[in-house]
Amino acid sequence: MSIATVRAGSNIAFIKYWGVADETLNIPLSNSISMTLADAHTTTTVAWDETGALQTDIFVLDGVAQSPARSQRLTRHLDILRGLAGVMWRAWVTSRNNFPTASGIASSASGFAALTVAGCAALGLEMDPTRLSALARRSSGSASRSLFGGFVEWEKGSSDADSVAVPLYGPEHWDLRDLVAVVSGEEKKLSSAGGHLLAKSSPLLNGRITHVGGWLEEVRGAIAGRDIHRLGPVIELDALAMHSVMMTSSPSLLYWQPGTLEILQAVRRWRQGDGLAVYFTIDAGPNVHLICAAESAPEVETRLSALRSVERVIISRPGPGPQLLDEHLI
Ligand code: DP6
Repeated sequence: MSIATVRAGSNIAFIKYWGVADETLNIPLSNSISMTLADAHTTTTVAWDETGALQTDIFVLDGVAQSPARSQRLTRHLDILRGLAGVMWRAWVTSRNNFPTASGIASSASGFAALTVAGCAALGLEMDPTRLSALARRSSGSASRSLFGGFVEWEKGSSDADSVAVPLYGPEHWDLRDLVAVVSGEEKKLSSAGGHLLAKSSPLLNGRITHVGGWLEEVRGAIAGRDIHRLGPVIELDALAMHSVMMTSSPSLLYWQPGTLEILQAVRRWRQGDGLAVYFTIDAGPNVHLICAAESAPEVETRLSALRSVERVIISRPGPGPQLLDEHLI
């Protein structure tokens, strides 16, 4: 049996990926920039059945065996790896997230990054992180960025080979914190995959894509200079621009809950009224990610936890790229 286990961190995008130029290859309409998370990760063991006895892939997530329907995305990804290695073997895959589902942390980013690296390692496919990034992208765009630690840019490129993430700075470069405020009364997350296709139906998409080049430049500069006051306004602007595109798509995607707005208003009040350097971003869900320097995190956590609509707060530092582990989950 060929087996490997990998831990990969999720990531939070400062400039978002929303909308695809090529839906089969997941080539995006624009670059995106993210921070890989140390404290929100997926650990995955892939064991290939070289005997050929196993008829289907087996997927166990957080201790629960997944139905064939729920394993479809995983099997499609394994098909790509099987194609590369020229084998027909099925696999046992066991995954564990150290963060709750529906926490507003993207498990597909860490999950597909870990699956790609573990699956290839167990097959003996020798690939550098750039190739692995391209492979992970095929099943989850944001997973391409989790192939590197720290601060990462996914260059949209124009082909399977060059639409890949590149590392900007390692995790030690800037001691930022991501505090995820989990909003109560949450509705089920609408899939991002469908959302990327809808983006083109929004009359606001072109506005965002026209401006995003300048915003990427601003975020690169802010990270280089470790300047939270430069980073913050542009990440808020891009998150609001992405949600404007979502809201004005046909059909409209409205991810926010009343609690989402309560947090956005509070963040602006804390900043403008009390000078607390904290800024928000929001992915495809109602939960809000608050970004601040490490020294501000305890104060931000106390204030967040006191808000009526905040169910829990999950805090993460910048983290490393995927790591091979010696201990397997199977
Ligand atoms: C809003 O297609 O990577 O988080 O469907 O969960 O794989 P999954 O997500 P993906 O889209 C992510 C969209 C986003 C913004 C971002 O992370 O850049």
